[in-house]
Amino acid sequence: MSLTRIHNLSISLDGFATGEPQSLEAPFGHAGQRLHEWMFATRFWDAGGTAGVDDAFAVRHEDGIGAEIMGAHKFGPPGWQDDPGWTGWWGPNPPFHTPTFVLTHHPRPSLEMEGGTTFHFLAASPAAALQEARAAAGGQDVRIGGGPSVVRDFVAAGLVDHMHLVQVPIVLGRGVRVWDGLEGLEDDYAVEAVSSPSGVTHLTFTRTGPGRGDPS
Ligand SMILES: NC(=O)c1ccc[n+]([C@@H]2O[C@H](COP(=O)([O-])OP(=O)(O)OC[C@H]3O[C@@H](n4cnc5c(N)ncnc54)[C@H](OP(=O)(O)O)[C@@H]3O)[C@@H](O)[C@H]2O)c1
Repeated sequence: MSLTRIHNLSISLDGFATGEPQSLEAPFGHAGQRLHEWMFATRFWDAGGTAGVDDAFAVRHEDGIGAEIMGAHKFGPPGWQDDPGWTGWWGPNPPFHTPTFVLTHHPRPSLEMEGGTTFHFLAASPAAALQEARAAAGGQDVRIGGGPSVVRDFVAAGLVDHMHLVQVPIVLGRGVRVWDGLEGLEDDYAVEAVSSPSGVTHLTFTRTGPGRGDPS
């Protein structure tokens, strides 16, 4: 069965997955790169990096993924919708290598990139978007790539089977929080926490019952 998964979503101690304001110069606002320094240090990111606990979690991002869904604010800075030349942050060969569905209220024609990534732009409910992504995923799993608003919407709709968040020991104080509106989330998931020597905590949420997005 095709699962819906989240990986490597980095949050501050106070639950923010991005700072503010987001801009072309500062994709994570005042958070800068602090949410992802743990990942930059791993072999997953850089061949000369570490191969310990953080790397073991980070590499799971790729395994068995056939499509990604992301939000409009992950795809680009405010205003990208008005720039017909904007193709995302990642250059000609984005690191997705699968069909990638960008949720936006300003859809545009699909964009085929190098390396197997094709961006599709759609306005659809989380359930409808997931159905489309599943159809494109060739029987593999679908990753919800963020940002936090889209993650929250998919989790609230009961569509997420497995979630891996990385709690980074910083307090951001402002930005976009992932937990708002998800009271009692732990009732639907088995939750585990693994502390890494790097100082981050890996949190995994594995659904304990059938998800509402289960097509069977
Ligand atoms: N910490 C991490 O690991 C991590 C991971 C990924 C991203 N990020 C960061 O998170 C930030 C973006 O997150 P965010 O929460 O601000 O925004 P987001 O989740 O990326 O995107 C939200 C936007 O997507 C569009 N959208 C969402 N659902 C839709 C639907 N059903 N139909 C049509 N459009 C829909 C809407 O934009 P419009 O109305 O404008 O179309 C909405 O405002 C960025 O700073 C990014 O760098 C962090």
